Amino acid sequence: MEEPEYIRMLKPAKYRVQDGVEMKSTDLVSFPVSGSEGGGRAKRFVASGDSGGGGGEEVDFQGLAFTAPFKLLSDEGVRDLKNVILDNEQHCRSLPGRAAKSLRGLGYRSQFIRDLNYSPSVLSHLSSMSGCPLGPHHMPSNLSQTNFGEIGADKPVDVWHIDSVDYVLVILLSDASNMVGGDLLVARLNGGDPALAIETINTRGIDPSEFDKASYPGPGHAILMQGSRIAHCVTPVVEAVEPRLTVVNSYQSLNVFEEDKTRFVTYRDVDGVDTARYEYARHKAWRVKGQLEYLLRGGEGGEGGKGMFEDNGMILDILENAEEELKRARELVSGKAIDERPYKVTGE
Ligand SMILES: [Fe+2]
Repeated sequence: MEEPEYIRMLKPAKYRVQDGVEMKSTDLVSFPVSGSEGGGRAKRFVASGDSGGGGGEEVDFQGLAFTAPFKLLSDEGVRDLKNVILDNEQHCRSLPGRAAKSLRGLGYRSQFIRDLNYSPSVLSHLSSMSGCPLGPHHMPSNLSQTNFGEIGADKPVDVWHIDSVDYVLVILLSDASNMVGGDLLVARLNGGDPALAIETINTRGIDPSEFDKASYPGPGHAILMQGSRIAHCVTPVVEAVEPRLTVVNSYQSLNVFEEDKTRFVTYRDVDGVDTARYEYARHKAWRVKGQLEYLLRGGEGGEGGKGMFEDNGMILDILENAEEELKRARELVSGKAIDERPYKVTGE
């Protein structure tokens, strides 16, 4: 695995807003991000040549927006992964309001896919880019999603949206040389509020100066992105040697006290309510279990509860949060509540 040439931060070191819209370039920082235990806040050097300026000085790490493409899979790995996908192509379907042709839940059928998602060396590599420990998302249908960008389909491979999981790794498998279209666009708008960015794009469109275009050097390269925090899309494939083929792995922060970005409604729509119900409950079980284990361990470092006797407020916070998460999950799973969909569905 190679190192990414740079990492783009979620927000610039000095955050600037004009007319209520964040339009300035965010800063590029070098790899790896240090001090990952600090919740993604680390001192980094701004790469020279970045339009964000300030080459060489240290800045607070504002969280990952996306990385430069880096080589993840060898040619042999690309070939084997493509074979797994082709062997399962009969299970492809369209995702309502999103992708025209997609394959999900391959981890249920393929050991190769499970190994790719759970590989300790890959997880360690990705965590050093995000600035926080990452693990595979606990809804197994996310292991992995394959998107097929058909040539000349005249619609986006994926519309402008925000992801329903914290982080995604998008691996290119196809020959993209001489490809026209099929570009991954990442908005720089409203860095602090991705929902507002989507609203802005849907209302007045987006100017080329307001997004970055990520270009893959070739098959086997991947981009890690905090897709739950930045609006992005993939444009229609106009011309290409072969259809655009990408595998998307989903990751979550392993800090169970961080806000959960998982959207139940997305998975209800794309995987069906029966699958989504169990997988979402499984994901919540992992989170709440981790929160209660923190109590069992006696807090950070497992000091046998030493600090717990002095901070009753923290104990109540943990109990209340666990209770709220389970209650909310029950409402969503039972259909009594619906969470906000992070993309626009035609007709709604
Ligand atoms: Fe996405």
